[in-house]
Amino acid sequence: MTFDIQRARRETRACEDLVHFNNAGASLMPSPVSDALHRFLEWEETTGGYETEKNQSQALENVYNSAAKLINCKSTELAYTESATRAWQLAFYAFPLKRGDKLITTMAEYGSNMIAYLQQAERIGIEIIIAPNDEHGQVDLAALRNLIDDKVKLISMTHIPTGGGLVNQAKSIGALAKSADIPFLLDACQSVGQLPIDVDDIVCDMLCITGRKYLRGPRGTGMLYVRESLQPRLDPSSLDQHGAELLSATSYRARTDARQFENWESNCAAKYALGAALDYTLSWGIDSIAERVLSLAAYFRQKLSDIDGVTLTDLGEVQCGIVTFIAAQANPQTIKAHFASHRINVSTSKGSGSLVSFQDRDLTEVVRASVHYYNTEEEVDFVVDTLRQLINP
Ligand SMILES: Cc1ncc(COP(=O)(O)O)c(C=O)c1O
Repeated sequence: MTFDIQRARRETRACEDLVHFNNAGASLMPSPVSDALHRFLEWEETTGGYETEKNQSQALENVYNSAAKLINCKSTELAYTESATRAWQLAFYAFPLKRGDKLITTMAEYGSNMIAYLQQAERIGIEIIIAPNDEHGQVDLAALRNLIDDKVKLISMTHIPTGGGLVNQAKSIGALAKSADIPFLLDACQSVGQLPIDVDDIVCDMLCITGRKYLRGPRGTGMLYVRESLQPRLDPSSLDQHGAELLSATSYRARTDARQFENWESNCAAKYALGAALDYTLSWGIDSIAERVLSLAAYFRQKLSDIDGVTLTDLGEVQCGIVTFIAAQANPQTIKAHFASHRINVSTSKGSGSLVSFQDRDLTEVVRASVHYYNTEEEVDFVVDTLRQLINP
């Protein structure tokens, strides 16, 4: 399959003079997405906010339809949120856990999710079980299976951690959860838009999405998926007049779809542009995107591994577009600054996002260079040469 890289770059305005390898932080919006954002703001400016929302109601509705197509669910199983964290929290804090219940997670869990588990452990006395890794640094499936007993009420994990290229085995874990009849919450923040995600294939019951990373949407956007059959078991930690209807001074009725998790007010321009980003992703096809991202990242890792003193820090048998490394000769901040002086964007991961995994490996900080489909082999070569100039001049 040939990938139309010319189109991808033509539609990514900053490509001309910027090497953006920070797609796991926030990707570059392609022109159809940023044009949509500006267009909506102009309509709001010239027509009025409520009026624009009404005029664009179909397009705003399509956000749910497009996301549903991408992850294979019903549009009524989706809520629009301002971030993946918010989406995840809405599901997690609505999930009925009580004292003595166990929750299983993994070593690569996202830091904010760990904080939420600890808060619920302090508040209500749940027990947090961290499944160990196998020899590849991904979840040890056999060990996880052995941890399941009738006190385990939730399996919750991050698919792709923020601080490395690991892709955890979501599908195998979903199958384990399903066979034990335990709901499965998946943080797919780094994977939606990068890899094919099918909630039925993975058998996950709740999942969070962010707009700005591999979906290439605007900042401050996200989505929550909640399986229809699970919705009656969740109790949203807050409800407003959009999530529920006030019937009288003593009664209200909550919505029965996932939009009970939303607030009435939202950034409609960002939501509209997220719809454009979802459609843009669909126009490429997620299989082509994944193939391109994974092959570019593999090429990048190969090149980095040829440099003396560089150590790749990505774990797992399957690795994604997030490439992380350290160098004996320079610390990650120095490397990031050197890259920036050559108009190369990367980020560093201090480990707070993947603290359990970093502490286990004695890592304090790594360079995170994350590629997307619009990046090129030539850019990889340029990044590698620029690194070489710094550490092996
Ligand atoms: C694995 C993972 N989960 C959640 C988040 C949080 O996403 P957001 O900033 O959209 O809340 C991130 C952000 O880096 C992440 O990498």
